[in-house]
Amino acid sequence: MELEPGDERILAGESGETRRQMMELLVALGKVFGAERLVRIKSAQVSGASYKTIGKYGLEWLNQLDAKAVVPAVLNPIGMPRGRWEEMGIDRDFAEKQQAVIAAYGRLGIRLECTCTPYYLNSPAFGDHLAWSESSAVSYANSVIGARTNREGGPGALAAALIGKTPCYGLHLTENRKPKVLVQVEARGTDLSIAHYGALGYHAGKLVGNRIPYFTGIRPDPDGLKALGAAMAATGAVALYHVEGVTLEAVKTGFDTNRLEKITVTKEEIRRLFTDIPVDAIAVGCPHCSANELARIAALLEGKRVTLPFYIFVAQGVIDANRATVASIEKSGAKVYADTCMVVSPVMERYKAIMVNSGKALAYVPDMCGAVSRIGTIEDCVRVGTA
Ligand code: F3S
Repeated sequence: MELEPGDERILAGESGETRRQMMELLVALGKVFGAERLVRIKSAQVSGASYKTIGKYGLEWLNQLDAKAVVPAVLNPIGMPRGRWEEMGIDRDFAEKQQAVIAAYGRLGIRLECTCTPYYLNSPAFGDHLAWSESSAVSYANSVIGARTNREGGPGALAAALIGKTPCYGLHLTENRKPKVLVQVEARGTDLSIAHYGALGYHAGKLVGNRIPYFTGIRPDPDGLKALGAAMAATGAVALYHVEGVTLEAVKTGFDTNRLEKITVTKEEIRRLFTDIPVDAIAVGCPHCSANELARIAALLEGKRVTLPFYIFVAQGVIDANRATVASIEKSGAKVYADTCMVVSPVMERYKAIMVNSGKALAYVPDMCGAVSRIGTIEDCVRVGTA
């Protein structure tokens, strides 16, 4: 792998042991994946932030590092809302350990914003190279924004944040971004909600696996695209998809899809995922809600009281920019929490059946929370949660 002279000096330890180790890690990853060089990145998003995920040894490893991020970098969601963990029912021992993880990342110069939607806080531009970790954020960055990132593991993303570069392979290269399978959705003329796009992604992810799909027959807005990509990254391993006439690369590049394998998905296959099993909690915001989603939830909850625990997950920066909307939602008794989500917070393990409006949460809640999951539209969630 070809390194610039400055990178060679970092590798020789001239800028400290931590940066030497981080450069060594990037070079090792580059060799494994056949990268010819490193590429400069605009930002990093680092996973491995929840104490539930990294545990004691992860925290010890972070505590012995000594360097500062050289590009803007944020964290993935953690196990609790930092300012409201007691109210959420998080145990003090867990909270203290989680605070220690956050403090360790803070010392490394990582911005303490814990979200899977960093693009709502500081959006990359088309063509930017990134080192992001969380699968839905990776999918959104690649597919909706047209930026370029592989799905980084936590240590690889942290190393990229501290060095400012990442190995140039996979989705950083134009030739690897072409569609590999055509997914024709037979839903023309029908309005698909965000939850329907999540269900479509849940279904399609199983069919396409790790191939790059090219969708026809749908016209999702950015919230629909977010739901679609998040679910496909969960049930498949999709880090990039295209939608005819909608996503930027599909519009700018005009891919030839004639020779691709074709898969058809019907509205009925999507609808079948919607059930009416009884639930004991509602959780929305997977991925974290946009300002538009918050406004929709506020309108639906206006003048109502929730009768089930009702959680809404969102980035702190989005809460700060939408204080009145959040206050209006919380008048109903629903809780709007930052920093965490229904999958990474240990609190959700207390429920037996959780209703979500996300294909990704539908897939992850059973394994991560030990609860049955049910998908519904946000209107269904409010109806069930306020009945
Ligand atoms: Fe985000 Fe948690 Fe869903 S990290 S994508 S809200 S599982």
